[in-house]
Amino acid sequence: MNAHNNPSAAGGAPMTPWAIEIDLLEATMRMPDRLLVRRASDMRGYYRDAAALEHLIAAGDPLHYEVLEKPVPEERGHLMVCISRLQPGLVGDECFMTKGHFHAVPATGEIYLCLRGTGFMVMKTAAGLKAAVPMRRHQMVYVPPWWAHRSINTGDEPLVSFCVYPAEAGHNYGDIATAGFPQRILRRGGAVQIVEETANFSRPA
Ligand SMILES: [Fe+2]
Repeated sequence: MNAHNNPSAAGGAPMTPWAIEIDLLEATMRMPDRLLVRRASDMRGYYRDAAALEHLIAAGDPLHYEVLEKPVPEERGHLMVCISRLQPGLVGDECFMTKGHFHAVPATGEIYLCLRGTGFMVMKTAAGLKAAVPMRRHQMVYVPPWWAHRSINTGDEPLVSFCVYPAEAGHNYGDIATAGFPQRILRRGGAVQIVEETANFSRPA
């Protein structure tokens, strides 16, 4: 049997084609098979104002972000699709954000098609490169291989993206929990600011 007849990397029967309803206007995926939910309490250690985060948790531990997925086998050749929905809000003066990750298979990229909201995709490489690319409705951000990526909501409505990436990519949180990203996005008096992370930044234990 050649590869054309048997496209499954696992050598079993090929996956049956399927379809799923994704509403680009409502920015939703109907009937996702997997839902990842992160609340404020899942974000300890990621914001610079730990006291403000604890205040938020004590005040009801609000929803932070959700990832809606229709999983496929995590093997080369498949494509993983998901909807990422990041709520608006501030922790102190820092905009709500996702944890961010490298891919476990680092030579894999990803596309984020922004469906709704405004924000940034902040990125870094292990070699010290950094980038902050604006996200807004209809903007597609290309995250090249080797770049860790985190989305940040600077607006007043959810920041929603449709994402596609190689299914074998996986997630590697690497040094992000301890080192963060080189840039933080703040909102002060309604003005959005990109600030460079300082070396003497003290992170809560
Ligand atoms: Fe990713």
